[in-house]
Amino acid sequence: MNIDQNTQSPSARPAVRLLGISGSLRRDSHCTAVLRTLADRMREGVTLTLHSLEEVPLYNADHDGDQAPGAVKSFKSAISMADGLVICSPEYNYGMPGVLKNAIDWASRPAFKSPLVDKPVLIMTASPGTAGGVRAQYQVREALSATLARPISRPQVAIASVAQKVSEGRLADAATLEFVDAAVADLLREIAMLRTAHPGR
Ligand code: FNR
Repeated sequence: MNIDQNTQSPSARPAVRLLGISGSLRRDSHCTAVLRTLADRMREGVTLTLHSLEEVPLYNADHDGDQAPGAVKSFKSAISMADGLVICSPEYNYGMPGVLKNAIDWASRPAFKSPLVDKPVLIMTASPGTAGGVRAQYQVREALSATLARPISRPQVAIASVAQKVSEGRLADAATLEFVDAAVADLLREIAMLRTAHPGR
């Protein structure tokens, strides 16, 4: 459900907006399927909106700042509006895909004052292989740390054999669903803690 369609009683806690970012542009991406599934499962008062990286061009400092391409501006604005990010990425050649690194690079500017600063992030990886993309996960965490984002600490979500767990564009494995639901719950707890610590933010 889109946040704008939320009708909440005045006593309800403020809505939480999560932004889902897939490291894969592929139409039938397993990572995007995982995020799509999570979006369907958000509890009341929480929305997860996916933002495609398809239109984000290669980073060029000459085009950064006020002159940034529209796709970059809208990506950064979506990050600013979100209370937290949920990234699900494949692993390419033991690392994160260039598409995702490129997007993080755009979003990280201006350095230490970007929309990523203090943003809680749940990192997930998925792979048809047995390691679940865990090597890419380290790189995503490291890059986000450089931006002063807050990748949350919890047991890693590295979904192995993902091709057998996705069906008709949705994650369909009960045990994995339980694990990723718990990961989202941890992200929401982190967001709630930050709200308590910094009420005006
Ligand atoms: C891969 N793949 C892959 N998988 C993995 O577990 N470790 C790896 O190092 C790589 N390397 C790699 C490089 C390149 C260029 C491609 C295209 C693929 C396989 C990859 O995990 C698989 O294609 C996933 O299905 C991609 O994720 P999506 O698109 O399904 O989300």
